[in-house]
Amino acid sequence: MPSSSTPSPTVQQYSDLDALSKAAARDLTTDIRDTLQTKDRYTLALAGGSTPRRLYELLASEEEGTLPWSKIHLFWGDERYVPHSHPKSNVRLVADTLTNHISIPDANVHPIPTPADRPEAAATAYTNTLHQYFPDRSATFDTALLGLGTDGHTASLFPETGSPEQRRTDGAWVRTVTAPSRHEVPIRLTCTVPTLNGARRALFLVAGRKKRNALAQILDRTAPTLPAAQIQPRESLLWYVDAAAYPTAFP
Ligand code: 6PG
Repeated sequence: MPSSSTPSPTVQQYSDLDALSKAAARDLTTDIRDTLQTKDRYTLALAGGSTPRRLYELLASEEEGTLPWSKIHLFWGDERYVPHSHPKSNVRLVADTLTNHISIPDANVHPIPTPADRPEAAATAYTNTLHQYFPDRSATFDTALLGLGTDGHTASLFPETGSPEQRRTDGAWVRTVTAPSRHEVPIRLTCTVPTLNGARRALFLVAGRKKRNALAQILDRTAPTLPAAQIQPRESLLWYVDAAAYPTAFP
């Protein structure tokens, strides 16, 4: 059950993916600018998959105004274990839609490494990277962007990999995971639930009718052990949902 400190989810419904992406871009750019009034760095963990593509394009566009990228650090919530040039790489997704189109210092971009055949070493290396920016795992990213799988997974935290209690109390910051066989890329690296829960805000982007059932179970709290249901950031839990994914029974 959620603890008393667990933020109640804010769920916003939008007509379609473009509308929810524009709203998420506005929210994120507002939080970035507000935060940088009092802090000299903003840390953003990026999601993979297809849903965030439009959001990344908007962040790169002039529509939102030019963000102070020199003060923004980009991390990844998870990565498929393929070369960063691979079409299924989350680094490739972000490069194609965002980082190839903005002026951000290389030192501000922190991809999860995927050297050939060394996933455990890569997990250790990324853990060390996170340690450099977040000495205490109870306070990690300013915002963690996340997607939702039809099975209730998020990042590369799958219902089949580990027990809910193992996920909730995982001592690792970053873990190597073998994705269920239905997923194209088997080996994954993922931030763990505690690492993601150290985020100040979690911002889920959910679009498409096929996500509705998983989302309904998460929002009505009938499936508290699904990985996405275990994401409980420090301050704000925000769901940006299109009409197709929005649960019909949800108020
Ligand atoms: C990934 C993501 C994963 C994704 C969901 C939803 O690396 O694939 O981290 O958790 O967010 O699978 O994917 P879509 O946005 O493609 O539906």
